[in-house]
Amino acid sequence: MEQNTNYSDLKGKIVLVTGSSKALGAETARRFASAGARVIVHGRDEQAIANVVGSIESKGGECFGVAADVTSTAALKLLQSRIREKFGNVDILAAFAGGMGNPVPILDMTEEHWRKTMDVDLHSKFLAVKTFAPDMKAKGQGNIILMSSGSGRLVSQASAAYGAAQAATLMFMRHLAQELGPFGIRANAIAPGIVRNEKVEKFMPAEMQDRVSESLPLRRLGTAEDVAQAALFLASDTSSWITGHALDVSGGKVML
Ligand SMILES: NC(=O)c1ccc[n+]([C@@H]2O[C@H](COP(=O)([O-])OP(=O)(O)OC[C@H]3O[C@@H](n4cnc5c(N)ncnc54)[C@H](OP(=O)(O)O)[C@@H]3O)[C@@H](O)[C@H]2O)c1
Repeated sequence: MEQNTNYSDLKGKIVLVTGSSKALGAETARRFASAGARVIVHGRDEQAIANVVGSIESKGGECFGVAADVTSTAALKLLQSRIREKFGNVDILAAFAGGMGNPVPILDMTEEHWRKTMDVDLHSKFLAVKTFAPDMKAKGQGNIILMSSGSGRLVSQASAAYGAAQAATLMFMRHLAQELGPFGIRANAIAPGIVRNEKVEKFMPAEMQDRVSESLPLRRLGTAEDVAQAALFLASDTSSWITGHALDVSGGKVML
């Protein structure tokens, strides 16, 4: 198994990366596994989960996969039981599942679309924290990383519902940091700019990708690897005095 040279404290840690069946979460799960963590690969698409599990195991990493809808408390409780049976209590929660960012003009947006976006991109993170943070509090140690977005930092081309959910995610993260810090739990967020994934490749024409890249100080779109490395940094003791922070992984698009 390819080893990370840094972050040796992650070895043996039980890490749940929600939304790790695809793209950003999948690469993050792989990087945690390569640092020696025991990783739970999660999503809803069983085949995609199996592919990520296979890619980790083929390199000697330790993981297993579970499908669960993050908008359902009952499903999250079942996920927790499976994790407890296999590995134990979660040490690190990386709540990455979500991604309903497709642009829909506000006045064309249905109430259903608004509520679904809030469910997937905001409420799911609250439910995951409610499920997994109590064990961290009991242990007096834990780490929570919430996925947000540049759309929660600045007005973007994504839908207003998505931007609102991601901005709210950041304030939720700050409250978590404030309330759970005394129990040894850190909470931070990652706010990526546009990161190449299947949807970006499919819906963003190459010339638009070039234009956006040229507009960024670092002159390129993000990669899943950029996000994964940010997650490992926030999860590891290397960042042990950092909590309540929104880490912009955006090639310089967001500088707040
Ligand atoms: N790519 C970007 O440019 C970008 C930028 C900023 C923020 N983000 C955020 O980063 C996260 C990952 O994005 P991505 O690019 O990797 O997107 P993606 O390729 O669409 O992956 C989304 C992941 O979330 C999971 N998911 C979505 N809804 C779920 C639900 N209800 N229950 C369980 N799992 C669910 C998906 O699982 P299944 O498909 O298996 O159901 C998949 O693993 C998202 O939260 C997104 O908002 C992405």
